[in-house]
Amino acid sequence: MNKRTPLHLVRAEPGPAHTATFDGVEIAVLPGQTVAAALWSAGVTAWRVTRGTGAPRGVFCGIGVCFDCLVTVNGRPNQRACLVRAEPGDDIRTQHGTGHDETSEPEGEGR
Ligand code: FES
Repeated sequence: MNKRTPLHLVRAEPGPAHTATFDGVEIAVLPGQTVAAALWSAGVTAWRVTRGTGAPRGVFCGIGVCFDCLVTVNGRPNQRACLVRAEPGDDIRTQHGTGHDETSEPEGEGR
């Protein structure tokens, strides 16, 4: 099988994976991966919902400029997933709206 992943293309040989959780589900994280890279590797492409319409968001620019990738890490909302390194045991959570009011719901829901 011809694997053409970014790791194979640059002949990277990362150390063994550690684990973190995303919304309570364990995911594998390679040393040095950002939260966004770890989530993508786990097949997760959206980890925030907008406060206005509840639209899903994930990585857009990938370089820390657009703030689309905001996520809650270890209880701290508004972390840019494309910049924050995933550490062993991190508790990564989907961010709803601003991340400061977990009871808020997108417009049109729950009414
Ligand atoms: S994807 Fe744009 S800031 Fe993270």
